[in-house]
Amino acid sequence: MLQVQDLRVAYGNIQALHGISLSVAEGEIVTLIGANGAGKSTTLRAISGLVRPRAGKIVFQGQDITRTPAHKIVAMGVGHVPEGRKIFTEMTVQENLELGAYIADPKRFHEDLNAVFERFPRLRERRRQSASTLSGGEQQMLALGRALMLRPKLLLLDEPSMGLSPRLVQEIFEIIVELNRSGTTILLVEQNAAMALSIAHRAYVLETGRVVLDGPAQDLQNHPAVKAAYLGGGQSANG
Ligand SMILES: Nc1ncnc2c1ncn2[C@@H]1O[C@H](COP(=O)(O)OP(=O)(O)OP(=O)(O)O)[C@@H](O)[C@H]1O
Ligand SMILES: [Mg+2]
Repeated sequence: MLQVQDLRVAYGNIQALHGISLSVAEGEIVTLIGANGAGKSTTLRAISGLVRPRAGKIVFQGQDITRTPAHKIVAMGVGHVPEGRKIFTEMTVQENLELGAYIADPKRFHEDLNAVFERFPRLRERRRQSASTLSGGEQQMLALGRALMLRPKLLLLDEPSMGLSPRLVQEIFEIIVELNRSGTTILLVEQNAAMALSIAHRAYVLETGRVVLDGPAQDLQNHPAVKAAYLGGGQSANG
């Protein structure tokens, strides 16, 4: 579904990605793990057209999207839930969802809005409330719901568990698994490597703009270097 080849991105003089290659097959959950500044968010931003790569190629469903504008990439079916959620706190819950919507067809809008409310009943209850009054977990659900309004085929999730209590982290991960089971392909960026590896099919480990390891998530869970660097020095995800 997605192929990224030798992707290089720089912000001015700062080279953030030094040639990243990765792929995501239809139906997979693929996770990208790595320390702060490794280039995880930059990789997602390049895929969704928010930053322009200096070199490399991005192919989505057989189409080269390396130079495609962001709004067209969204319309092709790539949803992006950015780091820090970026919901509009001065607006209501429903207004935030409207912003994510396909507005050309009002019938489809109501269908999609209903589908989001079915999945997140708490958002339905709070639809007229200002988004600023939502808890951290509810704001994450709103950010996810907004991305789902466009029926994405591929969902890019940037640190969905950030700042959430362990119980809510669990809940968000369950939602991700459920979205995947109902047909959404997922590229998941996480600092919580233990959780990410426990739900993903495959994983890539990024260090300073390069892929240093990749493979089935289960293999990486048991990899000594991954355990030492990302799973709390030997305490693996399985305890
Ligand atoms: N807008 C920007 N301008 C300049 N440098 C940037 C910008 N965004 C990111 N960078 C730099 O690019 C590199 C990769 O950043 P990126 O945000 O992709 O990392 P990350 O893996 O998502 O980190 P984190 O886990 O902290 O979110 C870092 O060195 C960062 O300082
Ligand atoms: Mg980031």
